[in-house]
Amino acid sequence: MIYAVVAYGDPVLKKTAVQVEKFDQDLNQLIDDMFETMYDAHGVGLAAPQIGKSIRLFVVDTSPFDDPELKDFKKAFINPIILESSEEEEGFEEGCLSIPGIRRDVKRPSKIKISYFDEKGKKFEEWFGGIKARVIQHEYDHIEGVLFIDHLSSLQKQLLKGKLSDISKGKVDADYRMKFFKR
Ligand code: NI
Repeated sequence: MIYAVVAYGDPVLKKTAVQVEKFDQDLNQLIDDMFETMYDAHGVGLAAPQIGKSIRLFVVDTSPFDDPELKDFKKAFINPIILESSEEEEGFEEGCLSIPGIRRDVKRPSKIKISYFDEKGKKFEEWFGGIKARVIQHEYDHIEGVLFIDHLSSLQKQLLKGKLSDISKGKVDADYRMKFFKR
């Protein structure tokens, strides 16, 4: 099932998400649906709050990047915790399915160590770098109620105000289904 992607302006995107409690069939179905929703929207990552579910779960698949190392990086991260971040940072132009039409350079740590559970409830602890670390940190932010534009300077954010207001009102040009918050 393809979900509508929650657009900027919905309070669910600003909430700290809660732990996943049950590793059951429903969770596995939800993960399948999130992958389907992400592929339909041509994204490389999708967090549960972006389909209106405020739980600590996100999926990534970096195969659209033209890089053999990123080809098979398809994973669900459940109840993840970023344990360590490198001091070294790098910039990368990010976008977000909830904020279509806006891309900006965001600085983040180049490497991170993260613990997480997979869909079967197995725990992992791993270091990731490069694009993988980039996508993971962007999605991790989502379950903390943070968006990539929150990393921009106040001036940069100010300059985006009109565009963001348009998005929240449904004035967007996206080729996937979106859900807009009604006040
Ligand atoms: Ni995003």
